[in-house]
Amino acid sequence: MTIGFFDSGIGGLTVLAESLRRLPAEDYVYMADTLHVPYGTKTKEDVRSFILETVGTMMLEGIDALVVACNTATSIAVTELRELYPLPIVGMEPAVKPAVEMNRATGKRVLVFATPLTLQQPKYYALVSRVDEGGIVDSLPLPELVDYCESLQFDKRIMGEYFREKLARYDLNDYGIVVLGCTHYPFYTNILREILPGHIQIVNGNAGTVKRLSALLNRYGIAEGRGSGKIRFMCSSGDPAYIDKMHTALDYIRETSQAEETV
Ligand code: SIN
Repeated sequence: MTIGFFDSGIGGLTVLAESLRRLPAEDYVYMADTLHVPYGTKTKEDVRSFILETVGTMMLEGIDALVVACNTATSIAVTELRELYPLPIVGMEPAVKPAVEMNRATGKRVLVFATPLTLQQPKYYALVSRVDEGGIVDSLPLPELVDYCESLQFDKRIMGEYFREKLARYDLNDYGIVVLGCTHYPFYTNILREILPGHIQIVNGNAGTVKRLSALLNRYGIAEGRGSGKIRFMCSSGDPAYIDKMHTALDYIRETSQAEETV
């Protein structure tokens, strides 16, 4: 069986890395919409049409299931994609619910990092109003971070300054958990770990997504376990240099990602 992963760029590789860990005996197609990355600072209408076009191209690749491995794309178009295509489709959700539950005992607040477009969507408001009874969730848009990530900017000093500036107005003693609500952001887990006080947990929703994927494959009866974790990389610009970049980025995330921080 072949599972398709779709993202605006390299962010979905953080979810693919989790899937390779949990479902190593399936094969994969990974598609990045390099012509239009980043999505999170564009309009909803533009992003919707980019998603429909790029996922349409992926469907010609013979995939059996699709992971929309992008929080922004999920909040804009996952419902429409499910109406259009008769295959299992799993999307992302910022891990606000598990974070609120995990945080209950500490009495501290939860800070969600995501793209501006994700944070503006009704899907995000609905999620927060459903799970945040105590009003403990704050949201911080990081509009520049996907661009940094796409240029493989992982320099500790430069990125450390960026995060410190973004966090300057927060008293971090008030917070118990930071939620990474964009699939690009786990590339910065290790840098954030050095910047944030030790009591703050950093979580992302990648493991939850892959668990939902696995359950859905079983429900559809299509999990085969006869593949070898082979990955076919594609991008909408067709640029071979970007394919090389995806290999580098996947190696980087597999080396640096910390399983215990994905829920
Ligand atoms: C982006 O393309 O701006 C980010 C994708 C995401 O939200 O995961």
